[in-house]
Amino acid sequence: MSTQSIWSKNAAFNGGELTLAGIPASELAKEFGTPTFFLDEAAFRERAISWRDGLAAEFGDKAGHVFYASKAFTCTALAHWIKEIGIGIDVATGGELAVALAGGVEPSKIELHGNNKSIAEIDRAVSIGVHSIVMDSLHEIDRVAEAARKHGKRQAVLIRLTPGIQAHTHESISTAHEDVKFGFSISSGAAWAAVEKIAQYPELELRGVHCHIGSQIFGTEAFEIAADRLLGFMAKYRDAFGAELPELDLGGGYGIAYLAGEETVEPSDVLPIIGKATRDACAKYSLQLPLISIEPGRNIVGPTMFTLYEVGTVKDVVLEDGSIRKYISVDGGMSDNARTALYDAEYSAVIAQRASTAPTALSRLVGKHCETGDIIIRDIQLPSDVKPGDLIATPATGAYGRSMASNYNHVPRPPVVAVMDGKARVIVRRETEADLLALDVAKM
Ligand code: LLP
Repeated sequence: MSTQSIWSKNAAFNGGELTLAGIPASELAKEFGTPTFFLDEAAFRERAISWRDGLAAEFGDKAGHVFYASKAFTCTALAHWIKEIGIGIDVATGGELAVALAGGVEPSKIELHGNNKSIAEIDRAVSIGVHSIVMDSLHEIDRVAEAARKHGKRQAVLIRLTPGIQAHTHESISTAHEDVKFGFSISSGAAWAAVEKIAQYPELELRGVHCHIGSQIFGTEAFEIAADRLLGFMAKYRDAFGAELPELDLGGGYGIAYLAGEETVEPSDVLPIIGKATRDACAKYSLQLPLISIEPGRNIVGPTMFTLYEVGTVKDVVLEDGSIRKYISVDGGMSDNARTALYDAEYSAVIAQRASTAPTALSRLVGKHCETGDIIIRDIQLPSDVKPGDLIATPATGAYGRSMASNYNHVPRPPVVAVMDGKARVIVRRETEADLLALDVAKM
């Protein structure tokens, strides 16, 4: 694993001021306002390319697709970058599919996920000819077959398997143990029942199997066990049907650093190990190596954004033991970063527009929402001279930040600004009060 800066590649500190691709934070705030997500476009492209090239280097003609997991963050401009870079995209809803198509991603590079896809979502995916639909229930097998029949097509499908692995991450983002809503369990026989059901439909082409063991995963053991169990399942298929399945998708989940000193998984850390594990398992089960695909989301986009806030108030709160905690309130909060409240996620922060030599003080970075749990950073040492008007930047907010943003308290969601080579442009505009009111059907 590689210990990395928690700031994206083209972020720097110049005389104490944070800059991105050469533009100072104070200028960014002046031009775009706060809170805003600033995206290091060159870093995003570089990370996506390094997964693409890493997969190709490891698997050669057996490299399937890097499907960028667009739930981490997507918008039309970013989907277009994905198209330019030439990787695929994983969409989990019709909405994510619409964005991928708006960005020009070819349907043959789109994979549709979801544990409860609507009939309309399935219909659209089949009609445009997506690369594959990942099956998550027996009901869905019938629905996809019906859509394929309606459109006179044969639809490629994968089966999402639950390999029974307890990945070491927060419970809400671990997905491959038995007691979850996703996929078909291998050990209970549910997965085999799905294979048999798919085989009854000539409209469906079973291309392979998939698993996603969880998110923010470090270490490679869980991926190695998953590769062995999935290829064992593919061998069972070969024995029963006399043909080998051509595709294996091992999902995403590669972890990133949020705090100084933490590690970010790089393609070169994990792909050779997945390569060895898949080749070893193929030798063990006498299988040919299938096409290997992966679905990194957080790892590509997470490290490439920071959120810039402005401090509104600072309050010294006396704790039970007589010590003081500074409550620093910024102009966003749980509506642009739900991860602290949901997963006890940890973030770091700095004063972005100036240096400070003041001693640090125990601080809590909080938002503007009417809720005690509206905490961005529970405990952090920040300079004790932090004051209203200061800019605060939190790094590594690219994944599951803007994509999980809400309008709680009718706070408009922040924009996303892409910055590259000294130029900044809005790729998702700031929501306005007019946007919020536009949904209300007035009865007056
Ligand atoms: N593939 C599938 C089928 C997935 O369900 C996910 C994430 C991914 C790929 C991408 O995982 P990644 O590489 O980004 O870890 N909201 C949570 C994360 C939920 C992830 C859900 N599925 C968070 O903020 O940590």
